[in-house]
Amino acid sequence: MINPALQPLSDYTFARLARMLDGIAPAAGKRPILLSVGEPQIQPPAFAAEAIAAGSHLWNKYPPPKGDAAFLGAVTDWLTTRYGLPAGMLDTERHVTSISGTREALYQLGFLAVPERKNGRQPVILMPNPLYHSYRGAAMLGRAEPVYMNATPENGFLPALDEVAPEILERTALCFLCTPTNPQGRVASLDYLKRAIELAREYDFMLAVDECYAEIYRGVPPAGGLQAAAALGGSLKNIVVLHSLSKRSSGPGLRSGFMAGDPELVGRYAEYIMFGSASTPLPIQHAATALWKDEAHVESNRAHYAENWRIATQVLGNKKGYHEAEAGFFVCMPADDAEALTKQIWREQAVKIVPVGLMAREDAEGVNPGDPYVRIALVYDAETTEEGLRRIAPYF
Ligand SMILES: Cc1ncc(COP(=O)(O)O)c(C=O)c1O
Repeated sequence: MINPALQPLSDYTFARLARMLDGIAPAAGKRPILLSVGEPQIQPPAFAAEAIAAGSHLWNKYPPPKGDAAFLGAVTDWLTTRYGLPAGMLDTERHVTSISGTREALYQLGFLAVPERKNGRQPVILMPNPLYHSYRGAAMLGRAEPVYMNATPENGFLPALDEVAPEILERTALCFLCTPTNPQGRVASLDYLKRAIELAREYDFMLAVDECYAEIYRGVPPAGGLQAAAALGGSLKNIVVLHSLSKRSSGPGLRSGFMAGDPELVGRYAEYIMFGSASTPLPIQHAATALWKDEAHVESNRAHYAENWRIATQVLGNKKGYHEAEAGFFVCMPADDAEALTKQIWREQAVKIVPVGLMAREDAEGVNPGDPYVRIALVYDAETTEEGLRRIAPYF
């Protein structure tokens, strides 16, 4: 017997993309370039591998579920400096936990933050649309109703929280927000985040802010959820933020990040891990500690992406609808028929891109807000990025 509620698990962006391109051979004689996945193609700094090697005597230890003291201390210091938090606002013991990457924790929140009933009814999980598939997975896990908040040009690609009906907010157990957004690279303002926290407190739901792209910016660093909590007086009730080394330090294979915020949720998370989920191995925690303490490699990553943005603007800058995103490493281009275009570009140019409709869902009116766009990831070295962009430019 397999739980039939799991059926939608096969329905995430890249599974859908694989089905869509099934049977279409990429152009013969051209090296395939995958501008589809948001996976950094550069390596984490060498000192990360050295820290893992130096911790190799620790493979016989069960890692502490919340992370070791050095890791939690490094994260607390980093958050305090990065977001200008008042000294003492974050209590390392109560407010911070290691996670095995944001994907895992975002999904697990569907269980951890969602009761069986909210105000006597089926709970709701609010999420942006387009979305990262774990948000929808969380709704499956929590047997909650996913309610999609469309990100559109009209709302600056940031869900209009104040337009969510009170009837929905009363049932909301968990609300996912992502800033900078994927795929549009928009940055939520401090006021926007403050308003989100106020709503979370007014209707008593957990606000989970996915900040995994927070360090890939040019110019001003994006505001964050904890900064908004500080501006509202410093309480961490009803809010958690999630960060990761995947984009910041080019280490998605490390499976390491952290969640910080609401003490009750953070405390429960560690207990939950004790029962049935992986905690980050100690040698990897040592590498992660070193990575959170170092900003030089992050600055060099930012320079790498800034160069890719420069190339994107050079190659696509005169195309209708092109703009440089505020943050992140995705170009979002308008397309009349995103699916047909994606297939054509794969067939004729061996370049893989993503129709944003595959990252989104139809809303209650049957509108898929991702349909008019394709997403192009600027994750390769400059030369490969340029080659991929030059191959696809004539199609826009
Ligand atoms: C918006 C968003 N959230 C979360 C993740 C998961 O990242 P990780 O689990 O590697 O931290 C991704 C990965 O692409 C993402 O795009």
